[in-house]
Amino acid sequence: MPLLIRNGNVVTADQRATTDIYCEDGVISRIGRGLDAPPGTEVIDATGKYVFPGFIDPHVHIHLPFMGTEAKDTYETASKAALVGGTTSLIEMCCPSRKDDALAGFELWMGKAAGKSACDYTFHMGVTKFDAATAAQLREIVRRGISSFKIFLAYKGAFGIDDAELYQTLKLAKELGVIVTAHCENETLIAERQRELLAAGRRDPGGHHDSRPPLVEAEGVHHLMTFAELTGAATYIVHLSCKEALDQALAARRRGVRVGIETLIQYLVLDKTYAERPDFEGAKYVMSPPLRDVSNQAVLWNGLQSRLIDTVATDHAPFDFKTQKPMGRDDFTKIPNGIPSLEERISLLYTYGVKAGKIDLHTMVDAASTRVAKLFGLFPRKGAIQPGADADLVVFDPDYRGVITAKNQSMNVDYSAFEGWKVEGRPSVVTVRGEVAARDGKFTGTIGRGRFLERAPGHF
Ligand code: URP
Ligand code: ZN
Ligand code: ZN
Repeated sequence: MPLLIRNGNVVTADQRATTDIYCEDGVISRIGRGLDAPPGTEVIDATGKYVFPGFIDPHVHIHLPFMGTEAKDTYETASKAALVGGTTSLIEMCCPSRKDDALAGFELWMGKAAGKSACDYTFHMGVTKFDAATAAQLREIVRRGISSFKIFLAYKGAFGIDDAELYQTLKLAKELGVIVTAHCENETLIAERQRELLAAGRRDPGGHHDSRPPLVEAEGVHHLMTFAELTGAATYIVHLSCKEALDQALAARRRGVRVGIETLIQYLVLDKTYAERPDFEGAKYVMSPPLRDVSNQAVLWNGLQSRLIDTVATDHAPFDFKTQKPMGRDDFTKIPNGIPSLEERISLLYTYGVKAGKIDLHTMVDAASTRVAKLFGLFPRKGAIQPGADADLVVFDPDYRGVITAKNQSMNVDYSAFEGWKVEGRPSVVTVRGEVAARDGKFTGTIGRGRFLERAPGHF
């Protein structure tokens, strides 16, 4: 059914106008004032509301076997949560273990999504080992529509690769025109500091931060940047959390290294005192890199507003507080890492970023949609409001006032890291290729409608 969104305040990464948007066959076909609605058109009155391009989360975990357990969401639950929160496409990290073949891993992750997602999706292909067979499989995976890799400089023995593998992966990526996304923390420093802290009797969730202080992350970024400079590969630092790491990335950029920078909504609004909460409550806030000293928040907001930081993601990784986080009750190194936030990213970014005067609305759209699409080969199909673009649209109600609570969330996890937080504004209508998929906090879409987004290499 055709769709007409009338009289919205349409805001993109660099433009704004009060206008109508007409969508047919899943794409935007006309933009202008006073457009007709032929019989059979679904009409949405967006007067007094913003209309944004569908948001894209560039860093999500859904199928994630990790630290002796598995993240809780399935594509059904995660894609519902994404849509309710205004995210119409997501990029999941495909993370096979070092024991597994890359191609088998890719097919496993694809199988978890195909026919089960309500939103569109693609993957960053995890390179968790590198040898001749893996290289051949990675070439095949790129042929199948993947144009980004994911590597971990942390998680020794699980996903982490060594320096020779890092060098070879970046060389292959450069040859293929693939961008390499990277978790940057020095795994040797983490292992040594964990050992020291445990030996000194430190067990509580707050120890997690002290085992991975800012310099551990900054060293990881510097390390990646050195390898990127030598190979000429395009890189993207995921979940950058602190000033020290940002300084390293920006210094590399000034030297001509091609590097995108992602921060997370968690680092923008939470700080390390949350992970220091007593009675194991802090475990809800254990993730890697850890939540930082609050002084880093201003650095990250300023980095976003000046567009030095490219994107805001979630690194959504849901582990239950009651049954999974307690794996590390007596040893912080065993707490499954992750803070779920797929559903809340946009309302938090709007409330604590735009409404608080830290970023403008165009920067929000850029960091959570358009820039993501550009970096990862989805633009202008995604991340744009223009004729020919997919009709993924978010009609956003700036007058909504609400309070976050786990009781109302679609994410399949037993807590919210933002329990009781006030939000101002939320998605009122969310469309995926012209179909209304969420209304006012409720999923109304179709499981299985989400499509795999094939991406061509060499787009940046
Ligand atoms: O703590 C985190 N970030 N968990 C998910 C895995 C990762 O490192 O991205
Ligand atoms: Zn990571
Ligand atoms: Zn992650």
